Amino acid sequence: MPEGTIVLVTDRPDRSAALARALGSVGRCEVVGTDERWTRDAALIGVVADLTLTRPEASTCLRALEKRYRGRALPVIGLLRRTSTESLRHAKTLGATVCLPAYVPPDTVVAALFNQLEAFGPVGEAAVVQGVARAGEALTSLLAEARAGSRIRMQTVEAGLTPILTAVREGGLARWLDTVWTHDDATYQHCLLVAGLAAQFALHLRFRRDDQQRFVRAALVHDVGKARIPLPILNKPGRLSPDEAAVMRTHAALGHDILKAGGECDAFTLDVVRHHHEFLDGSGYPDRLAGAAVSDGVRLMTICDIYAALTERRPYKTPMPMREAMTILQSMDGKLEAGLVQSFGRALAGERP
Ligand SMILES: [Fe+2]
Ligand SMILES: [Fe+2]
Repeated sequence: MPEGTIVLVTDRPDRSAALARALGSVGRCEVVGTDERWTRDAALIGVVADLTLTRPEASTCLRALEKRYRGRALPVIGLLRRTSTESLRHAKTLGATVCLPAYVPPDTVVAALFNQLEAFGPVGEAAVVQGVARAGEALTSLLAEARAGSRIRMQTVEAGLTPILTAVREGGLARWLDTVWTHDDATYQHCLLVAGLAAQFALHLRFRRDDQQRFVRAALVHDVGKARIPLPILNKPGRLSPDEAAVMRTHAALGHDILKAGGECDAFTLDVVRHHHEFLDGSGYPDRLAGAAVSDGVRLMTICDIYAALTERRPYKTPMPMREAMTILQSMDGKLEAGLVQSFGRALAGERP
């Protein structure tokens, strides 16, 4: 049985009780009215709409829903009070992926939902497999070019960006993280984690399409300077000595210089690569920037970067629970922008801004 929440949106909750009970066999069923806002939708796997579609509030509610989940593979079952061609068409324009007459027994609705989940499930999974593969290829080429000292071609990176965004949108962040955590190379895992988190943050903040790409590009390449850090330091399990840490810290400026020398990298990415270890209180590196000197892009990326580092999976340590990582981010008030940390928390929970 898939884990997750089914939302039953209904304008007659008294008559939907039997349906809600039946949907409980598919997932956790949450019954909501047309005027309710859903904010805890991270685990949402499907929607059943039991509404009189001719009522304006039904249209408003379903349109809002359709807008919210645009591009995400989510089954929406419309139960039609009238089964005319026109009401069927109406339901489809409101985002219903399948329609049934409202009088069918609850078991029929459950069967239809199971079918839809089966049809939709592999789409999300395939998107994640594809996304991780494309992003991994892009990253491997980028790090190889950086390690070899050859000129960085940003075209190599571009091929990975849309697949990352598609994977996170259609397959969900949780699936992305689960897949990426299985990779044992630390740098590779880390960069793909940051890229997935950045994609989720950008989608949550409703960035324009080109801004989504720009943000994910910067995330994917932010640690390119690590390609020049000696492997015994880069992959050392446990704490680095002060000297080793000093070497490690050079990766931010190194990455910036490598990309700048390539002559193809945009200003946003260069800024993020150089400054993703700066803090608002001036305690970061390499330039000890403070306050307004730390750009918005850097403020957002720093949060994704720290969260990825805290939750990474390494063979020699127990993974930190995601809730604990959020608590650490929240305790960094003064270094990180508290409002953005909050917003990141909401992005992780799949809530809307
Ligand atoms: Fe870094
Ligand atoms: Fe990083």
